[in-house]
Amino acid sequence: MTFAPLAPYPALRLRRLRQADWVRRLVRETQLTPADLIWSAVVHEGEGRVPVPSMPGVERWSVAEAAKAAKEAKALGIPAIAIFPHIDGAAKDPEGSAAGDPEGLVCRTVRAMKEAAPEVGVMCDVALDPFTEHGHDGVIEGGRILNDATIERLVEQGLVQAQAGCDILAPSDMMDGRISALRSALEAAGLQDTMIMSYAAKYASAFYGPYREAIGSGKLGSGSVANPADKKTYQMDPSNSEEALREVALDISEGADMVMVKPGLPYLDIIQRVVEAFRLPTFAFQVSGEYAMLMAAAQNGWLDHDRAVLETLGAFKRAGCAGVITYFAPVAARLMGA
Ligand code: PBG
Repeated sequence: MTFAPLAPYPALRLRRLRQADWVRRLVRETQLTPADLIWSAVVHEGEGRVPVPSMPGVERWSVAEAAKAAKEAKALGIPAIAIFPHIDGAAKDPEGSAAGDPEGLVCRTVRAMKEAAPEVGVMCDVALDPFTEHGHDGVIEGGRILNDATIERLVEQGLVQAQAGCDILAPSDMMDGRISALRSALEAAGLQDTMIMSYAAKYASAFYGPYREAIGSGKLGSGSVANPADKKTYQMDPSNSEEALREVALDISEGADMVMVKPGLPYLDIIQRVVEAFRLPTFAFQVSGEYAMLMAAAQNGWLDHDRAVLETLGAFKRAGCAGVITYFAPVAARLMGA
């Protein structure tokens, strides 16, 4: 970036362009709209809606409620919904077998949503953790998360999701090579239009805590198999950013259409670097812990909820994101006048 020479003060008074709302709007550099949002949501096997205690305002939806929400998204101008399943303990096993069930919760939800509102995109997480009793995103052997054996399971899972009508597969597992495996399986199955948004730079973060409660995730570090207590052998080290660029480059070369950085706000520097380096649609995931943090402060009267929601989401646009995956999507769309 090179700047034109600056006039010296008082010829230059930067406050001139801030003096009224109309001129602030006129010179605004970035704009958040409902079209920038992907609504992150949790679904369950039960009836109706069940609140998630650590995420005030977020509820687990039944399949029927998810279909209603798809219509709501359409009315609010929200382009897509990302669904995450809460799986009953009895349906889990060490390999996460239920992930590949074409009649499972995720596939039934996708079909119901696409029937209710075909104009709204549906995105599915490709990862085993909702389905494994140990809560890891992969198959474990001797306390190690197996890369290639996990990919085989992810391909089965991605294929049934795509066949059910899922528009965007979003692999969040961080196994090496999963994008090319998914892409070639989709091509071979005649599903060449299914999009892939890879969780390319996903960090081993403390900010996923509330999500694990929301989906009833298995407890890391316990269970019937030797079970590592964290995801650090597959998710990225929060200290690294060069590595994030390598992860993104790899996923693009393997056929990802879009990439994601996760979590969001603590990783704005990564988002900006990815956008500058690769110039492809880049998304941020404002994760459960970011949501919970903001809601807790707002509920205590310590933050202005509405302003803080729009300011954090706007920060992702300023950093260069095409859009944001967020639990605030409907709230934010309404705040924007939808
Ligand atoms: C699992 C997955 C996680 C999230 C999305 N997919 C948790 C994890 O990796 O442990 C987190 C979402 C959130 O915190 O909102 N593959």
